[in-house]
Amino acid sequence: MPEIVTLTMNPALDISTSAAHVVPTNKLRCTKPQYDPGGGGINVARVANVLGGDVVAVFPSGGASGGVLESLIAAEQVPFRTVPNGGSVRESFAVDDRELSEQYRFVLPGPELSIREQDECLEVFTETAGNARFVIASGSLPPGVSPDFYQRVSDAAAKVGAQFILDTSGAALQRTHTGVFLLKPSIRELRESVGGDLTTRSEQAGAAQRWIRAGKCEIVILSLGAHGALAITADSDEWFPSIEMPVRSAVGAGDAMGGAIAVGLSRDWSLHESVRFGIAAAAASLTVPGTGLCRRSEVEELFITQSDSRCSEAIESIRRIEKERERQCSAC
Ligand SMILES: Nc1ncnc2c1ncn2[C@@H]1O[C@H](COP(=O)(O)OP(=O)(O)OP(=O)(O)O)[C@@H](O)[C@H]1O
Ligand SMILES: [Mg+2]
Repeated sequence: MPEIVTLTMNPALDISTSAAHVVPTNKLRCTKPQYDPGGGGINVARVANVLGGDVVAVFPSGGASGGVLESLIAAEQVPFRTVPNGGSVRESFAVDDRELSEQYRFVLPGPELSIREQDECLEVFTETAGNARFVIASGSLPPGVSPDFYQRVSDAAAKVGAQFILDTSGAALQRTHTGVFLLKPSIRELRESVGGDLTTRSEQAGAAQRWIRAGKCEIVILSLGAHGALAITADSDEWFPSIEMPVRSAVGAGDAMGGAIAVGLSRDWSLHESVRFGIAAAAASLTVPGTGLCRRSEVEELFITQSDSRCSEAIESIRRIEKERERQCSAC
């Protein structure tokens, strides 16, 4: 029984490539495509797994693209359970323009999920999360799924006694009213959801605290892209700077952050330490092209070198885990 379970209602097969320059009409000769597993919860699970978390990913899967997706996840040794569905897993397409160093991202809708398939997803998820401490739903909902689906996930998490982390947007975010432990919107998603420019820290914290007072969630980690993140609770807000990195691809930065935060919390680190770990994972993910996410050694190195004295216990625990890994390696 895993400690962390992720749910991805709208998984994707991510295809990334590059062209010399992206222009209309002309055929664009692209480089060899890279195929990666995609969809919010799947990326969260990949990061949590890379960082040593005890995680299982649950998602609906079908069609030829579903087969490729599953084999890619299996190749990364991420434990997963699928719910077979009638349609094909969607494909997402990212093209780097090498001349301008810009990235174009095309996101297709997923296949429609029947009510029965949705119920099965919830059943498999709840069963898998029987003893989990954290459950994470991340990403959009595919066609046919009601925007209040994540409220059902929130209720299911409460039933099994797991803390619910949610990263979504639009109506799915708006229609989740109660029981979330930690919400991770980006500033773009918060603006879309509550309206207004929310330019100042007090406006941003105020909007998040209205959610908290209404019982939607306990904690909001508001990610601000290159400007870092704001961790907001009922009576506090703390700003965390980002770590400056050369950006190869911003795809999956938020998922890397969510996965690392869940791993930190599952190790009983403080919220402060877990958010710092999340920022280190997000920064490491920026340097990897496509949706290759991040490498454990880089995340831990960034965390150790970029964190403050309030992270000393988490740093100690990373060193202990590292020693244990070395001991196990030399024993075998
Ligand atoms: N250009 C950047 N430089 C440094 N860190 C970054 C940069 N972009 C993102 N990050 C890190 O990744 C985290 C998450 O990024 P962001 O706020 O863009 O969320 P996101 O979930 O990826 O966005 P969205 O869901 O809106 O596409 C940030 O809090 C920050 O720590
Ligand atoms: Mg995001």
